[in-house]
Amino acid sequence: MLVFAHRGASGYQAENTLAAMQMALDLSVTAIEIDVHNVEGELYVFHDRRLENKSDGFGPIHLATKAELAQLHILGEPIPTLWQVLELINGRCMVNIELKGCFSIAPFMDLYPRIFDELNFTYRQVLVSSFNHHYLATLKSEYGQAYVAPLVDGVPLNLAQAASDLNAYSINLSINFVNQAMIEDAHQRGVKVFVYTVDEADDIRALHHFGVDGIFSNYPDKAQAVVDSLVM
Ligand code: G3P
Ligand code: MG
Repeated sequence: MLVFAHRGASGYQAENTLAAMQMALDLSVTAIEIDVHNVEGELYVFHDRRLENKSDGFGPIHLATKAELAQLHILGEPIPTLWQVLELINGRCMVNIELKGCFSIAPFMDLYPRIFDELNFTYRQVLVSSFNHHYLATLKSEYGQAYVAPLVDGVPLNLAQAASDLNAYSINLSINFVNQAMIEDAHQRGVKVFVYTVDEADDIRALHHFGVDGIFSNYPDKAQAVVDSLVM
């Protein structure tokens, strides 16, 4: 079972910052998940739609300027660009780039090939996910080799079929909607199932029993220890 450091090692450091990424790397995680917004054509790693929820800024992030974002902090840490985060990780573990809403996919389409041309990532190390499945279809239409994952916070009709039609690597599903039938349907179609956000040992054990392929955790070291105890 794969463990993703959710927003970096966000249980220990300010989420989605370089400090959270460095902590995750120091913990030797196998994978890191980050959230991405588009501001004036630049891609920033930040979770919320509104700045005041997590930073010392105010207002919708997509209405901010790059100059404004450069002044802001999350618990004292700067808001990094996607490229800064990718340069830091640089192929040392898998990365899941979650494309948030209020977003044009165009800047990401420009950046995506540079990840492989200019940094030390392989295609299988970069999983692109989104609740907006149109972004994933657009990425796959230009880069058929891209690893993509539709995010869901529920179980839509024909979910596994739709993921298979998209040639998705995984379905990334909320723990609130884990469903054994859907997991089996996905596996029969060759699609993995990763579940967010999972920090408790009893949840990890139950998901392992269901055959879930990976989890997103704010405490990736603790989650990995539970996973290791299950497979020994
Ligand atoms: O990518 C998994 C999970 O991060 C999706 O939800 O709101 O934590 O970005 P959220
Ligand atoms: Mg996320």
